[in-house]
Amino acid sequence: MAKLEVLVVVAVFMEMVSAASLGVVYTEGGMVEGENIRLGLFSSMDIFRGIPFADMPGRFEKPKRHPGWDGVLKTTEFKPRCLQMNVIMTDTRGSEDCLYLNIWVPHGRSVSTDLPVMVWIYGGGFLAGGSMGANFLDNYLYDGQEIADRGNVIVVTLGYRVGTLGLLSTGDSSLPGNYGLWDQQAAIAWVHRNIRSFGGDPDNITIFGESAGGASVNFQTLTPHNKGLIKRAISQSGVALCPWGINKNPRKLAEEIALKVNCPIDHTMGACLKMTDPVLLTKAGALSLPSSADHPIVFNLLLSPVVDGDFLPDEPSKLFHNAADIDYIIGVNDMDGHIFTALDVPSINSDLLETPVEDVRRLLASYTKEKGIAGLDNAYSTYTSSWGSDPSWETIKKTIVEIGTDYIFLVPSQAALYLHAANARTGRTYSYLFSEPNRMGGLLKPYPSWMGADHADDLQYVFGKPFTTPLGYWPSHRDVSGYIIAYWTNFAKTGDPNKGDLKVPTTWPRFTSTGHQFLEINAKMNSSNVKQMMRMRYVHFWTSILPNLAVNFSE
Ligand SMILES: *[C@@H]1O[C@H](CO)[C@@H](O)[C@H](O)[C@H]1NC(C)=O
Ligand SMILES: *[C@@H]1O[C@H](CO)[C@@H](O)[C@H](O)[C@H]1NC(C)=O
Repeated sequence: MAKLEVLVVVAVFMEMVSAASLGVVYTEGGMVEGENIRLGLFSSMDIFRGIPFADMPGRFEKPKRHPGWDGVLKTTEFKPRCLQMNVIMTDTRGSEDCLYLNIWVPHGRSVSTDLPVMVWIYGGGFLAGGSMGANFLDNYLYDGQEIADRGNVIVVTLGYRVGTLGLLSTGDSSLPGNYGLWDQQAAIAWVHRNIRSFGGDPDNITIFGESAGGASVNFQTLTPHNKGLIKRAISQSGVALCPWGINKNPRKLAEEIALKVNCPIDHTMGACLKMTDPVLLTKAGALSLPSSADHPIVFNLLLSPVVDGDFLPDEPSKLFHNAADIDYIIGVNDMDGHIFTALDVPSINSDLLETPVEDVRRLLASYTKEKGIAGLDNAYSTYTSSWGSDPSWETIKKTIVEIGTDYIFLVPSQAALYLHAANARTGRTYSYLFSEPNRMGGLLKPYPSWMGADHADDLQYVFGKPFTTPLGYWPSHRDVSGYIIAYWTNFAKTGDPNKGDLKVPTTWPRFTSTGHQFLEINAKMNSSNVKQMMRMRYVHFWTSILPNLAVNFSE
């Protein structure tokens, strides 16, 4: 072939396989342009980082629409997270200018249209977190690329205010609270209004989140302000009914924070707090440590949403009718309570230290303190009835983790599942238990050999890290990650985790008020992973027996 012909053939070929891209996208605020990356011969992805979905928020105010911009906004860098304490709690990081979102749009041979959309809400105890997640060697935890590519869905990750600036409430109209939830809502509404220009289907939006993000997902389904915006939802390890989900006495916390920043505790408190330096406010809301079995860490998580008569017109348990048409997956990790109980009772992680039985009593006494001695006695016999006369160290340590897991996550999640199923019209309900063991458990490792899935262990699998960084994982980890991405993205497309483009290892039946079926998710999945009545005895204790006990504080 002559040189020219070769060049022509090459040029034609290059044109044929040139990557599909949205190019410049028109949004309500103005034009944005992201980054286009090629993934394969016939696949590519547009990535937009740092699109503003609202204006810079006023302090302790609801978010406002962005005024817009002229020209093309380059959206190729993540924006700072919302102002918060740093990981080691010595200083603050982030900015008050933080209401931005990121979008991953996968394309095949041609530019995508009408794709289902998955909107991620991060966790971090309503105290920390960012839309892109922790960064390790330029690999961001909440990078949406693997989910978007494997599942052929659009992934959006949003930023919202946390800590004092996101959730402080005086319990009245002066500082009503819930600003972080309003931010999330503003982002969801922005996605609904704008995602069609990115190739998304606004009627096919799934919100998903973990921990405080899982509870946030639940709050977003319960508020009347999202009517018609959300089609489906996934709450991983967190629902609105968790003991840390709602602060019932926000005034007390507001006064403690006011004292720390030298504001008067009177009718001028709200005005004074509004004028206080945001860094001081953030530091005044930092998590107080250390904790113990007598003062468990979960009771220090107080900067939470409040029943404000607006975002939440009533107690969460009375609002599930607002989620009646939303398909909902709710689940927990089998040792979600481990990281928390290990702070309260550090000996549970040691093979060399005994954990005294007394620690089980102290932790249960804290969790049941509203019912006094009757609560403790009932709880103690419920959790120790299978112990025999001489429980092993391991049995005692595992019981502590079970108590924490049940109280902080598992039981409230079961209550949310019952309420969703009982209130549902068209909405389907699915329940799961994630049990892939933590990778730091076992011989010569910092965690005990009996470790299951700790809090937040699910995140790496949901975001496909075993594929992104294959050297850090075994093939079995890629199996679990593939299973979760298949169930999650099928669900986002069809409302049924079993039906969609990706094959699943076993059929996940719906949770019904009579069947109570759930799927146990791990690397070794087959049909025997479909189970029933998750920890029934303990759910019954916390939801029926304990609330009906007469209060008794005398010995
Ligand atoms: C959602 O997306 C799926 C897959 O693209 C499609 O089949 C379905 O019709 C869409 N709409 C709704 C409301 O589920
Ligand atoms: C499922 O897998 C377990 C081991 O992981 C095995 O013992 C069991 O027989 C399998 N069940 C079915 C129905 O294949």
